[in-house]
Amino acid sequence: MPRTLLTVSVLAASTLSVVFLAADARSKVLREQAVISEFGMGNFGLPFQMQDPPLGDTHAPAAKATKASLSGSTIVSLRDGALVVDGDSGKLLRTDVDGALVAELAIGADASQAVVDTAHSRAYVVDREHDRIVLVSLERGGLAKVDAWRTAAEPFGVALSPDNKTLLVTHVADQKLIAFETETGLQRWDIELGPEPRGVAISPDGHEALVTFLTSGAVARVDLQAKQPKLSFVSLDPSPPSAANTPNRAFFGEQAQVQAPGGKAPVFNPEKGKSFARNAFAVAYVGNGLAVIPHQLSTPDLATSDFEVPSGGYGGGNGFTAPINHRLAFLDTPDAGEQGEIRTAMANTTLHQPRALAYDGNSDTLYVAGYGSDDIMAIADVSQSSVHLGWQQSVAGSNGCAPDGLAVDGENGNVLVFCSLTRTVVRLKGDPDSAAAPTVVSTSKELAKSHFSASELRGKQIFRQGRNAQISTQGAMACASCHAEARADGLTWFLQGHILQTPFLSGRLEGTHPFKWDGQDANLEISLTSTVKRLGGTGISNRDAKDLQAFLTALPKPRIPTVEDDQAVARGKELFDSTTTGCLNCHDGALSSDGKRHDIASDLPAVDTPSLIGLASSAPYYHDGSATSLESLLRNNGSIHAMGRTSRLDDAQISDLVAYLETL
Ligand code: HEC
Ligand code: HEC
Repeated sequence: MPRTLLTVSVLAASTLSVVFLAADARSKVLREQAVISEFGMGNFGLPFQMQDPPLGDTHAPAAKATKASLSGSTIVSLRDGALVVDGDSGKLLRTDVDGALVAELAIGADASQAVVDTAHSRAYVVDREHDRIVLVSLERGGLAKVDAWRTAAEPFGVALSPDNKTLLVTHVADQKLIAFETETGLQRWDIELGPEPRGVAISPDGHEALVTFLTSGAVARVDLQAKQPKLSFVSLDPSPPSAANTPNRAFFGEQAQVQAPGGKAPVFNPEKGKSFARNAFAVAYVGNGLAVIPHQLSTPDLATSDFEVPSGGYGGGNGFTAPINHRLAFLDTPDAGEQGEIRTAMANTTLHQPRALAYDGNSDTLYVAGYGSDDIMAIADVSQSSVHLGWQQSVAGSNGCAPDGLAVDGENGNVLVFCSLTRTVVRLKGDPDSAAAPTVVSTSKELAKSHFSASELRGKQIFRQGRNAQISTQGAMACASCHAEARADGLTWFLQGHILQTPFLSGRLEGTHPFKWDGQDANLEISLTSTVKRLGGTGISNRDAKDLQAFLTALPKPRIPTVEDDQAVARGKELFDSTTTGCLNCHDGALSSDGKRHDIASDLPAVDTPSLIGLASSAPYYHDGSATSLESLLRNNGSIHAMGRTSRLDDAQISDLVAYLETL
């Protein structure tokens, strides 16, 4: 399948020279301090802190423009209660205002989101497992399946246009955005997006849509006014690099040059200090033409300063600098068709893994939930220059929450929270203009049974947990920070003198021991212990480790993209199995791994043969991420040269082999 290259539209500011002189750095720091003190938010670790001057207007948005755009969510507020999509049980659930269950409908495993067309009393529900949109009638207080439309492979995010005529759907495995006509269910158009798309929202004027991604520092912007939708990208990566993250060879060259053990070649990481935006699950349009995207900022190779002692682990050491931070991006996009620069402003937040969003246009408040920290934040005047924190409230309960959906009750401004771990709905009533804690109006009973065992569910709870010092230094990192959905962040982390790519976990662990790229960890238990040590955690209990293992090994294999050419796949398989290539010598069996280590890398003494399951979703490749695509892996070999025989393959054979590898 062809892959779209992410042509990131670079912000004007990044043309500033990255060569950094001490004086420049100081003035940059001073500038930043000035910006921060100007808004009186200079203290470190405030729950919500603008890093740039706010983009919004000096006045509240006009009432008309505040109609919340209909972006998919796991929870939707209805006049007489709520609609919940529970991916765990695979069910669509309907509750009354008190949170009592009134109806349910089976959809499919990992059912992801729903949008509601209130005018027609109809919900569009995304069935991630069976590749369809299920149309559900909400009439007479029930849930009745009316129809289902086929989608491409693995739909996830959904948004309904303001005129209710178009449904946009993102697809994870097929990496596409598809527009459906709601009247007929026919596909109007589709565009290639790039790897790991998730949330989508349409602007209140219906002119454009934004799509977020798990593994890219960019947000896709789709111009919906053109005859053919036009795609461009907005970068969320920090730009220009600041003093703290400048990949400057002259300055950092010595530290970046690390002698690998075993007398192998030294590693030079040209991206030292660079930060990348990751894990953007959702986007919401707020008033005054702004959109907000919660995400995470990862710095895989921290530039060490005088204040730090490198520990060899992820950002560990004395004078700890968190390699993972949580942010909200504010985007001001000019009207489609109009010329103009896309402006961005960033805010830091202490929410861990900010994910779910809901906007209340009546009060111009944005509600954001921390998936890893179980807290909800009200950000008041969100589309104005007076943007500020209203209240913050924990919804942790005794078994955690892992909020992955928020909704606002249009009647009374109540905030509905869907706790994905406990499958419960919490209803909060608060005043966004006051810092006073909101009251918990109601907490529902467990609305559906989990498909996980009790141990697996505990593992799921630990896996996404931020702020847990047992897992990482100061609780800065959760497993899900780098392995969101037990997948990979597409980054290579600098660890103990090596650049090591984050492996994809879901469906790739059972039977693939030993673990880690160097194959030093004989089993999963040892692997988890060493991971927690590297993360700087104080250590997890045996029970926690068992539960984490139970959870990780219960997860399914990733979905594969739609096969476009069966014949090519068959020819590719023949090549893979042949002595011409010799791939089977090491990638044998159901998991396509011999479980052995081979001395084929230049900077590691030996590398464990990885399983090839889910290759289509796990770019980049090799332990050091040196092959950015399967094509380049087979053509130029990246940093690995003694793996199989591919140099004599012609273009057609390479493309057949890629077609086959993407089906594993
Ligand atoms: C900062 C990013 C990051 C965080 C946080 C993180 N990992 Fe990883 N994970 C990685 C990288 C990078 C590797 C490869 C390291 C290596 O091979 O030495 C890895 C490797 C693994 C492996 C080995 C997979 C294989 O096929 O060999 C497992 C299992 C794993 N991580 C689970 C976890 C769990 C569980 C947590 C939470 C306790 C966690 N990770 C937290 C980045 C991360
Ligand atoms: C000598 C054993 C051996 C043979 C033969 C071999 N591989 Fe590998 N393969 C490995 C090892 C070891 C790695 C990990 C290398 C690294 O990351 O440094 C690997 C990595 C890969 C990866 C990257 C996986 C990832 O998740 O990053 C792909 C794809 C792959 N091999 C495909 C093939 C194909 C196709 C062939 C046949 C042309 C082949 N291999 C032949 C041992 C082998």
